[in-house]
Amino acid sequence: MLIRFKKTFEKIAMGLLSFMPEGKDLKKLQETIQLYETEENWQLFLYKRGDDFIGLIGVELLDDEAIVHHVSVNPSFRNEGIGKEMVLKMSSLIGNRTVCPNETTKPFIEKCIHPNEGTDL
Ligand SMILES: CC(C)(COP(=O)(O)OP(=O)(O)OC[C@H]1O[C@@H](n2cnc3c(N)ncnc32)[C@H](O)[C@@H]1OP(=O)(O)O)[C@@H](O)C(=O)NCCC(=O)NCCS
Repeated sequence: MLIRFKKTFEKIAMGLLSFMPEGKDLKKLQETIQLYETEENWQLFLYKRGDDFIGLIGVELLDDEAIVHHVSVNPSFRNEGIGKEMVLKMSSLIGNRTVCPNETTKPFIEKCIHPNEGTDL
């Protein structure tokens, strides 16, 4: 289940954001969470299973596009399809916008959106 971020989830969200490549930089992490808390078009969603928050996806909403800036799954729950499920669920929440990656999220988002690209099918 995808749940919209709110301030009470700040610590858990920062924990999940810290799995991103740039996540070891605490200052950057604080700037990122601040962005999602203050900018209306930056939207963050947490993936909840049972009582646990185990994933996160964050997008910047533009007129026609939703740029995925952050996507992260707790290492204990990877390779179960949660990351892909978050991308698909998030895309149903953003109206007619096209899901686009940024440079960091490109490999995974491309894999989710165009799973057969680059193969000899
Ligand atoms: C990237 C991440 C979110 C994937 O989450 P996940 O729940 O393990 O992914 P899924 O199980 O939904 O994987 C779906 C498919 O994407 C592939 N995949 C996983 N990570 C990938 C990556 N970094 N780049 C490209 N493809 C990837 C999987 O192999 C799987 O392929 P398959 O359908 O052929 O089996 C997770 O590994 C993570 O949190 N990484 C650290 C944060 C990070 O680096 N985020 C940016 C990644 S570009």
